[in-house]
Amino acid sequence: MAVTGVLRPGHVALRVLDLDDSVRFYRDVMGLIETGRDALGRVYLKAWDERDHNSVLLRQADVAGMDALAFKVRDARTLERFGARLQEYGVATERVPRGEMLETGERLRFVIPTGHTIELYAEKTDVGNGRPYLNPEPWLPNLKGIAPVRFDHALLYGCDVDGSRALFEDVLDFALVERVLMADDRTDLAVFLSCSNKAHDIALVRHDEDDKLHHISFLLESWEQVVRAGDILALNAVPLDIGPTRHGVTRGATIYAFDRSGNRFETFCGGYEYYPDMQPLVWTSDEAGPAIFFHDRRLNDRFLSVVT
Ligand SMILES: [Fe+2]
Repeated sequence: MAVTGVLRPGHVALRVLDLDDSVRFYRDVMGLIETGRDALGRVYLKAWDERDHNSVLLRQADVAGMDALAFKVRDARTLERFGARLQEYGVATERVPRGEMLETGERLRFVIPTGHTIELYAEKTDVGNGRPYLNPEPWLPNLKGIAPVRFDHALLYGCDVDGSRALFEDVLDFALVERVLMADDRTDLAVFLSCSNKAHDIALVRHDEDDKLHHISFLLESWEQVVRAGDILALNAVPLDIGPTRHGVTRGATIYAFDRSGNRFETFCGGYEYYPDMQPLVWTSDEAGPAIFFHDRRLNDRFLSVVT
């Protein structure tokens, strides 16, 4: 499949309670690479195999959570096209000028019906992944911590899941890949949407409060690395939510844990590849347990209720 519109989640802007402590966590335990700091005090990081300058921004705040989730689009013309489509759809957009973020072009910012701030951008400086484009060796020695290959997706909680789902499908050309239904067998409790060939690039869960972050997720290359991530988290006394385990939805193998501010994160591997000729997979409410946690076959209250 040619990915021609929205390419992927590009960066997430997080609020943390203690910036220095959080930078140490994301750098030394998660194993991200710090790539810059700006005049507003934001710290920029990236996973080792990402070539763009940044994928995680941290800023100190009194309340943890997510300021914005940004998607990279194919080019400047695509950004203009999505800008026009959003306006036509009745979504107010704000243009954040080039340079407001380090090494990042103009961003188109808007709020989706679940209250989350989403951004689109076309340009971010390619700083490389530590390997050349010509004859690259496939890995880097001396990586610290868990060292995921990329920031992969986010799961967001809010009230109007139907409205946000429609916006992603109708305006941004995302595809509905999986749904978890509520007890009425009609209403979506959760939807998993893809802009690419991945089983999901964003997921949304119905919740009684808007603009909440459930988790951000980092991709690892193997189950062995997921288990190793569990060892590293335990060695550093990082509070786990659940795992290592496996999802029914998307089939990823996963660990959930909390950063120093209580923001949940996931380190995962696997999941199937989505193609647009696949019908959405549907899970009924009585099977929500194995849908979310295939091994335990039931949800834990913390996973359902703790968000930032
Ligand atoms: Fe996830």
